[in-house]
Amino acid sequence: MFVTPSRGSGRGPVRVAIVGTGAIARVGHLPALTALAAEQPLEIVAAVDVAPAAVEAFCAEAGIPHPYTDLDRMLAEQRPDLVTLCTPPRLHRDQTVAALRAGAWVWCEKPPCPSLEDFDAIEAAEGAGDGGPYAAIVFQHRFGSGAGHVRELLARQAVGRPLVAHCQTTWYRDEAYYSAPWRGGWADEGGGPAMGHGIHQMDLLLDLLGPWAEIRAMAGRLVHDVETEDVSTALVRFRSGAMATVVNSVLSPDEVSRIRIDCERATVELTHLYGHRNADWRITPAPGVPDELVSAWTDFGADVPSSHEAQLRGLLADLRAGRRPRSSGGDGRKSLELVAALYKAAFTGATVRAGEIVPGDPYYSALHGGAPGWAPAPPPAAEATA
Ligand SMILES: NC(=O)c1ccc[n+]([C@@H]2O[C@H](COP(=O)([O-])OP(=O)(O)OC[C@H]3O[C@@H](n4cnc5c(N)ncnc54)[C@H](O)[C@@H]3O)[C@@H](O)[C@H]2O)c1
Repeated sequence: MFVTPSRGSGRGPVRVAIVGTGAIARVGHLPALTALAAEQPLEIVAAVDVAPAAVEAFCAEAGIPHPYTDLDRMLAEQRPDLVTLCTPPRLHRDQTVAALRAGAWVWCEKPPCPSLEDFDAIEAAEGAGDGGPYAAIVFQHRFGSGAGHVRELLARQAVGRPLVAHCQTTWYRDEAYYSAPWRGGWADEGGGPAMGHGIHQMDLLLDLLGPWAEIRAMAGRLVHDVETEDVSTALVRFRSGAMATVVNSVLSPDEVSRIRIDCERATVELTHLYGHRNADWRITPAPGVPDELVSAWTDFGADVPSSHEAQLRGLLADLRAGRRPRSSGGDGRKSLELVAALYKAAFTGATVRAGEIVPGDPYYSALHGGAPGWAPAPPPAAEATA
């Protein structure tokens, strides 16, 4: 049963609750909400964490009035307009659905949830008519002036047709990183670097190049003692005909996030690590392109870094207007579908086509697809008792 939002769509302050008060809540959500509260009517009314000391400390430090250890209780008592979800991925489906059912919009951290089945359950729980509530995924690398400028150049084919692309997430994660109990397993983290790390650049690539058509892939577990992969490579053909290579690694000491798109009239390249600004983009014209055109292409305008704040600003405007936000629904699902297809292609050796992973396909309900050597081992059989 949906509860009609009482605020948010009106002119009063948007009432926000933060769920999960760990690392990304502190470095991403709280600073973004604090900055936006200084420019528009917005209040952080509550925070939730299963760890009582953590949520008490978080609220005390940030001046948030109501700490909770129970999400349902917070939803019933505070009736927030927006819930920002900063918990481990295995919780995203149920917590998002609970918040939507309570009438709140949701801004859920990536990766969206552990499977396409989970995502479709979230989408089914969104408001049926216009106005939401909607659930959007945090994909902050799509936002900011650089991504916006390049998306517009590509959309109107100012630099010609895109032809060849590279999408690289080569990061480094050590054993200490994998000591967190929810990392490295399919059930908790959802997947390895394709899902947890590379999804940001793959999402940006899809946002820039449009729909993909087919994928072939490989995955390996080369260093870490984890259930998931720690490296993957893939070849992707886009519906436009453009072809891309994709690398997702947590084994790369010289860390970089990179997207490079060779178009008919220019190469467009982004090099950064965890966020980008105008100076991180480079446009190299093909021979013979007039200088005035190059000047227009390389004019990125005022520098708005990619960030949680940049995405959230747009989402809040959509919430107030009752519009579906970017990165929700099909627009939030597309990179999860590409990740599911990457795993299916890697674990079966087959070419996987867009749209083929539907209910009944083993990769619809779990990204490991039950593949031998990749799916979690079944629990040991209970010992026979006398
Ligand atoms: N967008 C980004 O750039 C980015 C960066 C880092 C992490 N993330 C994502 O953010 C999410 C959280 O990652 P993190 O690094 O902050 O993890 P974390 O372990 O630091 O924090 C998670 C918090 O959730 C709390 N929690 C666990 N179960 C809960 C429950 N049932 N109800 C309420 N709280 C609960 C934990 O106690 C902890 O405080 C993950 O999905 C991760 O992939 C996104």
